[in-house]
Amino acid sequence: MADQVPIITVDGPSGSGKGTVSQRIADRLGWRLLDSGALYRLVGHAVAQAGIGFSNKNKISEIASKLNAEFKDGEVWLDGIDVTDLIRTETAGNNASKVAAMPGVRAALLDWQRGYAQPPGLVADGRDMGTTVFPAAGVKIFLTASAKERAQRRYKQLKEKGLPANLAALTADLKERDARDRGRAVSPLVAAADAVEIDSTALGIDDVVELVLRQAQRSFAKPP
Ligand code: C5P
Repeated sequence: MADQVPIITVDGPSGSGKGTVSQRIADRLGWRLLDSGALYRLVGHAVAQAGIGFSNKNKISEIASKLNAEFKDGEVWLDGIDVTDLIRTETAGNNASKVAAMPGVRAALLDWQRGYAQPPGLVADGRDMGTTVFPAAGVKIFLTASAKERAQRRYKQLKEKGLPANLAALTADLKERDARDRGRAVSPLVAAADAVEIDSTALGIDDVVELVLRQAQRSFAKPP
């Protein structure tokens, strides 16, 4: 199934705008959206809730393989509890990146992610969508932005939500997460060889969306 369904993968570091861009593209095309980061955030949250510590790899992989999660109308539920906001904090992002470095966790989430490839199409947002999860995707985007710009965007987002934010702490967290995501042995954050790289430092969301849609038009256009 995944082979016949058109797929756009959007990978890149935290704060590059992947989430918003992917959502807009999915809306414009009427395609499904896979927010793969939410899965790792859910595992991190479940581990923190269980109070088992982040070194127990076997237990954490087991948690990932039995994750009782549901996505509905933009909300994320875990074991019948709405965790939509809880998994969006900086701590949840950092916990996600810790469990994401574990091969057992990545393996446990692979089929679940591939199951999202359903007609009419899929936009998959993450770190390894174009390299590991959907290596045959028709369009692969690697979205970047400078660390300074990404930290400032996160700062603005948090402030707009009325949440506490500290730019220096955010920058440090982001760099730590980038280093862990790029340096891990399994599925590290890296652009696929056939990905189109877009630097969004000086671009607005709308500009990036148009660039990706143009790329999709070229790649998925039916032969005459
Ligand atoms: O994209 P988001 O910030 O929600 O991802 C949270 C963390 O989950 C990332 O820092 C990364 O460590 C991990 N992740 C991953 N592979 C993905 C998506 C997210 O390792 N495909």
